[in-house]
Amino acid sequence: MEQSPSSSSFSVATPQGLRVLVASSEAHPLIKTGGLADVAASLPTALRQLGCDARLILPAYPRAVRQLREPKPVCELRMPGCRANVRILAGLHPDHDLPVYLVDAPESFTREGNPYTDLSGRDWGDNAERFLLFCRVITVIAQGLPAMNWQPEVLHGNDWQTGLASALLQDVPNRPATVFTIHNLAYQGLFDRATYDRIGLPPALWSLSGLEFHQRLSFIKGGIVFSDRVNTVSPTYAAEVRTPRFGCGLDGLLRQIGGRFSGILNGIDYQVWNPDRDPLISQRYNRDHFGLKVENKLDLQREFGLPRSEDAFVLGYIGRLVEQKGVDLILAVLPELLRDPRVQLVVVAAGERLTEQALLDIAAKYPRQIGVFIGYDETRAHHIEAGCDVFLMPSRFEPCGLNQIYSLRYGSVPLVHRTGGLADTVINSTPDMLAQGKATGFLFDEAQPQALLNTIWQALRLYRDDPEGWRRLATTGMTQDFSWEASARQYLQLYADALAERQSANQAVSA
Ligand code: GLC
Repeated sequence: MEQSPSSSSFSVATPQGLRVLVASSEAHPLIKTGGLADVAASLPTALRQLGCDARLILPAYPRAVRQLREPKPVCELRMPGCRANVRILAGLHPDHDLPVYLVDAPESFTREGNPYTDLSGRDWGDNAERFLLFCRVITVIAQGLPAMNWQPEVLHGNDWQTGLASALLQDVPNRPATVFTIHNLAYQGLFDRATYDRIGLPPALWSLSGLEFHQRLSFIKGGIVFSDRVNTVSPTYAAEVRTPRFGCGLDGLLRQIGGRFSGILNGIDYQVWNPDRDPLISQRYNRDHFGLKVENKLDLQREFGLPRSEDAFVLGYIGRLVEQKGVDLILAVLPELLRDPRVQLVVVAAGERLTEQALLDIAAKYPRQIGVFIGYDETRAHHIEAGCDVFLMPSRFEPCGLNQIYSLRYGSVPLVHRTGGLADTVINSTPDMLAQGKATGFLFDEAQPQALLNTIWQALRLYRDDPEGWRRLATTGMTQDFSWEASARQYLQLYADALAERQSANQAVSA
């Protein structure tokens, strides 16, 4: 492995020019399976707008390589456990002025389809090896590669796929400060002891205060235990995961690291999600011309084969079909809900086969009221955001959630379970909040079908009985500002805190 010749000194830099390497296993549109991809592309872009030299590193999935602008090989590395050399490709993000490095290790990453699973939905058998390799390459770059002529002052890892990088860097003298973001604590990167022994991690890291988690190897613990700062993507989720109910077995650790752990709400990219400029919708609109929105409803109904009607109360859902998302709650209330013939539901979703089938079955039973598209489709997602009246997010837990924030901007009133980032972004339609013109949506407290149903009825009553009140509610949502700038500034502060911590640790060592 090559090493940096210089021992760069880290000062607590002013944000201007701060060199940050953001590591993620996905970034939109290079590769996307979930919200992480949106954040991994838009946060570094926002950081660059604030004057920071942020760059992104991802595995070189074929789809990502195809979309990289101006790709150039930078260097080749010999890595343990890897027969062929690993190439680093440098280029630019397809849509932004953002430098991107791709880790090209064909044996590990040149696979079409999902980055984590094979075509049948099973995890790739060598995921531990693949993401350990990714982490090892990150650590090499983090120490400064002469061929790259660039060394980050901060390494910002995201989710379990990058967790081991902080662990492997902990004792490296010229390492950058490390920040680790948890986008979803339920995905931890757990592998058995035999895998740990096989992949050649230092034996000393197998301990309760290291990577071991109930006799298994935990990638995410690497990020949590060994990073200078750890955060998650909303303040409420940061509080929730410190409790046994939401902590997925890691609540004790998250309590223990105290002030090193915080919550920063995600921003959204209003260049992509803005009904006033959205090229993917047929009728553009804004809060001053809210009445035009209905054209998108009529289009949506046509696209999903539903009768076109301005009066229909159209509910929308977009998302992965996993238990977290609470789609079973929607399924449970449909028979009752659809007794009102003017209620319609439109869904774009993919995931667990049983839930996909249940959605298709119920859509076949109510062809005039339910439209379902199985799969993830960005264009249809925009159509739903623009065309529905109410956007449903009954998630059992939700670290941040982005679709409810998109919905706010599109005047599609979010109706959400009071949890995580949903609780932090939607203001409930209590009589008081409505009267003050502050309400932006509906929240329900228990993740139970009856609570969801009651809240949908409450929304429907307002929609039918008080069109002016409804317009006010929806347009108040449209004025909320969740752009990245404020959140990116909080990340800059987090980087500064991590650098300060790193510096004081260095001083303690040299004293
Ligand atoms: C994950 C979380 C989601 C969050 C996204 C981006 O997908 O489940 O709540 O918005 O990451 O941070």
